[in-house]
Formats: sequence, structure tokens, C-alpha cells
Amino acid sequence: MNDAVRGAINKQINHEFQAAYLYLAMSGHFEVENLGGFGKWMRMQAREELEHGMRLFDYMVRRGVEVTLATVAGPQTEFGSPIEIFRQALKHEKEVTELINSLYELASSEKDYPTQLELQWFIDEQVEEEASVGSVVEQLEMAGDNRAALLMLNEKLGSRVTTE
Ligand code: FEO
Repeated sequence: MNDAVRGAINKQINHEFQAAYLYLAMSGHFEVENLGGFGKWMRMQAREELEHGMRLFDYMVRRGVEVTLATVAGPQTEFGSPIEIFRQALKHEKEVTELINSLYELASSEKDYPTQLELQWFIDEQVEEEASVGSVVEQLEMAGDNRAALLMLNEKLGSRVTTE
């Protein structure tokens, strides 16, 4: 693996762990605000991000490449309304999609075929990620100022049982 690809994957591992930290902070916020369903959903999302980071970590190790782990900065400590939080999460997912796409382009230009194959999973996954967060944003928009609808949605998201 050449240095450019190695550096970019190292950075992506950091982005995934950074995302886990962000979603974990969001989950803690929801939980103390008594919106445990949203909190549980975000907690599972955080776990999923850790799995994404680990997937790239394991890939590097399989290729016999040393991983350089960078500092994971603390996320924000102030959060807005549920819809603002989920809009932020959607914006974050779109940024991650751009990062994965750029990484794929780099792997292509460097003719790193195994990395391109590995990244195909992430390209599919980002379609899923944007769809699932986007669907919560749309449902929150439908709920508007209706507290009962918000609580029903909280209940529904709390039933999420897998990280998929
Ligand atoms: Fe790892 Fe939510 O993208």
C-alpha cells in the first residue's frame, strides 16, 4: 500500500471514531432530556461508527500495514432540538460520504485494487446511513411542534435492535 492511501485510510479511521464520539455525545444528551428512544438510536449509531473504524483497522492489519491512530477530539457539549441534532447527523453523514468517495478516487488513481474493493462496502453503507438518518429527519419534520408525535417517534426509534 502506498503512503498516500495509507495516510488517507488512517485519517478515515479517525473520522469514523470521531463520528462515534459525536453520536455518543448526542445519545447522552437525549437520554438526560428523557428522550431515551432517540438516545438508544444514537447509541447504536455510535457503535456502528466504531465498527466502521474497526473494519478499516482490520483491513490495514490484513494488508500488513501499520495503523497510526490519531487523537479523537471531544465533540460539542451543547445541542439543539431533536430535529437540529438529526439534521446535524445527516450533514455529518453527507460529509463522510464525500470522504469515502475521495478515498475511493485516490485508491483508483493509485491503482490500489484491494482498497477499492474494501471501499465498495463503505460506499453501499453510506447510502444506507444517509437513508436512515434522512428518514428520521423527515419524520421529525412531519411531527413539527406536536409533542405527542415526537414522543411516538421517540418510542419507535427506541425499538431499534441492531446496528444495521
Ligand atoms: Fe461511518 Fe455513519 O458513517
